[in-house]
This record gives sequence, C-alpha cells and structure tokens, in this order.
Amino acid sequence: MELSQAINERRSVRFYRKDPVADDLVVKMIEAARMAPSWANSQVSRFIAVRDPEIRKLVQAAVPTSNPAYNALGEAPLVLVAAGRRGKSGHYKGTPVNKNGDYAMFDAALAVENAILKARELGLGTVLVGVFNVEQVKEALKLPAEIDPFILTPLGYPETFDLNVPPRKEVSELLHWDRFTEKK
Ligand SMILES: Cc1cc2nc3c(=O)[nH]c(=O)nc-3n(C[C@H](O)[C@H](O)[C@H](O)COP(=O)(O)O)c2cc1C
Repeated sequence: MELSQAINERRSVRFYRKDPVADDLVVKMIEAARMAPSWANSQVSRFIAVRDPEIRKLVQAAVPTSNPAYNALGEAPLVLVAAGRRGKSGHYKGTPVNKNGDYAMFDAALAVENAILKARELGLGTVLVGVFNVEQVKEALKLPAEIDPFILTPLGYPETFDLNVPPRKEVSELLHWDRFTEKK
C-alpha cells in the first residue's frame, strides 16, 4: 500500500471482529513505530500489547462507558497501549528546554502514527482513545511510576470499515505563510 493511501484511508474503527491478530503483525507495527523520530533519539516510547482478557478488562474499565470506543476495547482481540518515560525527552540535564515541557507524549504520537498507518496497511483497524483514567491503566499494566500511558487503541480486524472522512478543515485554514494571521 502506498503511503498516501494509508494516510488518506486510515479511519477510526469502532467495530471489530473477534478474529485474533497474529503476534508478528503487532511486531510489524512496532517496527514502524521504532523508525519514528524522537527527541535527541531518546526513544522513550513504550508499547504494551494486551492480549490477556483479564488485563484487557481492567484497561477497558479505565474508560468511561460513554466513550464511543468503549465497546471496541472489549470486542477487539487486543488492546495496544502507548506509553512513555517522563523526564528525558525535551530535557537537558534534567530540565525541560522550553515551556512546552516534556516531549515524551509528542514522541509517542509520532511513533503511534507510524504504527497505526502500518496497521492500516496490514488490514487492521485502530481507534485512538485518550479519555481514560491514567492511574487505573498504570495499575492494570504495572507501569513504573515514571512511565505514563498516553493513548490506547483496540487492535483487530474491522467488522465494518467506513471510508467516509469526518469533515476536515481546508489547507487554507491550517496553513499560514510567513506569519500567523487570524483566520475565520
Ligand atoms: C489524541 C486523540 C484522542 C482520541 N480519543 C478518542 C476517544 O477517547 N474515543 C474515541 O472514540 N475516539 C477518540 N479519538 C479518535 C478521533 O475521534 C478521530 O481520530 C477523529 O474523529 C477523526 O476521525 P478519523 O480518525 O476516522 O479520521 C481520539 C483521537 C486522538 C488523536
């Protein structure tokens, strides 16, 4: 699959088949993730692929039932959690280099985008889930204190796949040349 096709035809998938996902496909996704850039190549992102049904239940329980992706976290055969070690990325000698603070989440986002585009190429569905209780997920996965979970995604074969793109802003609204100007 061409990169442009994966970018344009990746959609959030909220309905999954029960069919298992082979471990080597998850490994392929993380191979894509590891090639993403990171702050000073610090590579602080970590991925936890949750197959164990009991642990998956604990992760799902950290998400409000009202979340549109809640059911998907129970249906998909696997849940992937992206996490990162705080206090290194975006830091110099233990201090953040600018007011943006820790870049661990930024690094993780780049790696996650690579992983979910690879998933699309492999025929797998994903939907990023950011609404969850961080401490509950940390406890469920036994993450050490300095590693925080940033995003979850169910991972599996889509039950339905809707190619319709939720409305996107025009490039002209997003792109500013030379300096920022207020746009309607
Ligand atoms: C950081 C982040 C957090 C998100 N959290 C949720 C979530 O909690 N539940 C959900 O159903 N979708 C969530 N989404 C998915 C977005 O709703 C979705 O990407 C957006 O509506 C565009 O649709 P598309 O992914 O099909 O292009 C999240 C996406 C991002 C990037």
